[in-house]
Amino acid sequence: MTKTAREISADIEFPGRKMDFGFDFEDLPRYWNDNDAFKTHFMNALSCLFLEGERMFIDAVRDSQHLVKDEKLLSQVKSFIKQEAIHGHEHHKFSEYLDSMGYPATKVEDFERKEKKLMRKYMPAKRRLAITCAVEHFTAILAHQVLTNPEATEGMDPRFKEMWTWHAIEETEHKGVCYDVYEQTGGGYWLRVFAMFNVTWMFLLRTAIVQGIFLWKDGKLFKPSTWKSGFKFFWKKPGLIPSIWSDYKDYYRRDFHPWDHDNRELLGEWQAGHDNYKTV
Ligand SMILES: [Fe+2]
Ligand SMILES: [Fe+2]
Repeated sequence: MTKTAREISADIEFPGRKMDFGFDFEDLPRYWNDNDAFKTHFMNALSCLFLEGERMFIDAVRDSQHLVKDEKLLSQVKSFIKQEAIHGHEHHKFSEYLDSMGYPATKVEDFERKEKKLMRKYMPAKRRLAITCAVEHFTAILAHQVLTNPEATEGMDPRFKEMWTWHAIEETEHKGVCYDVYEQTGGGYWLRVFAMFNVTWMFLLRTAIVQGIFLWKDGKLFKPSTWKSGFKFFWKKPGLIPSIWSDYKDYYRRDFHPWDHDNRELLGEWQAGHDNYKTV
């Protein structure tokens, strides 16, 4: 019998993996993504927003988990926290490299840290958890593109492709955890979709600002070739926005669950070739 999305979510097991890519960033090409400034700085911007974003997710779940009764979900929360903490650690190392290249990546992290501290102080845990669910949906649908759309990764430096693929796999593994905590702690529909509406424009605006700063540093912000590439990246078939639109709008359904989109087969394929990582 086919499992429901909530049954899949309850059954799934995943470890925290101790990742240390340890590769030497020094010989990474400046435009490591398809030799393209727009695509590279889009990913660079996402990368330096991850550290504090993922810390916020961890805090939101930690501040809500005392209300969770389900032992299995509590053990998934532990694995979720391990995975997100390691993601932040790896992306921070990359931010330090971006600093050494002349981009203010750790300054972006500092700004984000102050903002998230204020959010934790003044915003109730349930609202922060609703925001976390919305961003986790974004990361899950972007992860699905990384894992299934060859256009998303084929021009990447292979070491970076490995890092983004690992992150995408773990985002897929834990995509239901925050959502289940939100539901089990009484989170409702309107707060969830209100959070998604706000997260959508904040996420796009924030990424665009950081990406714009990085492009400006390279003297490429106002070059027509940069924006031609950007248009192609976002819109031209199978551009990013048309590719994720259907998954994105599913979030506004009342009966939505992240595992409605059952893509577990992607996990098995990756795990088969990566069973040598240490777990924590
Ligand atoms: Fe993550
Ligand atoms: Fe995540």
